[in-house]
Amino acid sequence: MKKCAIITGGSRGIGKAICLKLASETNYHLLINYQSNKEAAQQTLQEVEALGATAELLPFDVTDKEQTQEVLTLWQEAHKEYLVEVIVNNAGITRDGLFMWMSYEDWDKVLRTTLDGFYNVTHFFIQKMLRNRYGRIINIASVSGVKGTSGQANYSAAKGALVATTKALAQEVAKRNVTVNAVAPGFIQTDMTASLNEEELTKMIPLGRFGKAEEVADLVAFLASSRAGYITGEVININGGIYS
Ligand code: NAI
Repeated sequence: MKKCAIITGGSRGIGKAICLKLASETNYHLLINYQSNKEAAQQTLQEVEALGATAELLPFDVTDKEQTQEVLTLWQEAHKEYLVEVIVNNAGITRDGLFMWMSYEDWDKVLRTTLDGFYNVTHFFIQKMLRNRYGRIINIASVSGVKGTSGQANYSAAKGALVATTKALAQEVAKRNVTVNAVAPGFIQTDMTASLNEEELTKMIPLGRFGKAEEVADLVAFLASSRAGYITGEVININGGIYS
């Protein structure tokens, strides 16, 4: 059996940092999911391989149930001896705005990316994981999902629901040695936060800076390892002291 880890939205930002961290710290064969930016995905693949890991790109839109099912089924059929032990549900988007002016599309798209993304990928692998009696599922939530953020009613709803389903699923699968945890980052320097006023926002962060994608990746790599075997159903804040 060749053991694998899948990272959704793995071509850039936090997802890419997770791929690089898993590549340097584990022996997992990495399945790097991306949606459309092939160039960035290939760059990530090259960097992962340069660290001595093996990996492949799996392009699909996590919100598209049929497409996700088709790509993952074809992959599994072509790789019968491969087993996914780690799932990192990282794909996520923001469509910020005050709720009273929020379009249904912006509400729906944000929820579907986080929640359908979680369902479509995790549901595909969960039975095999349970049969194998080992697994690590890590969901990338957000400080918005635990405290709620003004201007992000959609994103807070999506990430809050992701936290809740993390806790529910953790209880269902614990007996089979599968752990399910959420990581809730605060402000992390990536494309997602590039348009924010970092200087202004930093004033409210006790540690006085935005976080780095690599710092989130360190936590995810720990949760993905066998060392984290007694942690499940948790949401772990990583936010410079902004909220916990
Ligand atoms: P990013 O925008 O750089 O990365 C998000 C990734 O998800 C991109 O690669 C994107 O292509 C992918 N993605 C989006 N929709 C997808 C879909 N339908 N199918 C497949 N892939 C899709 O942003 P960042 O910051 O790296 O975000 C990663 C995760 O961390 C997200 O879930 C985000 O909500 C979460 N997060 C980020 C924070 C930050 O301050 N940057 C704070 C809290 C949470």
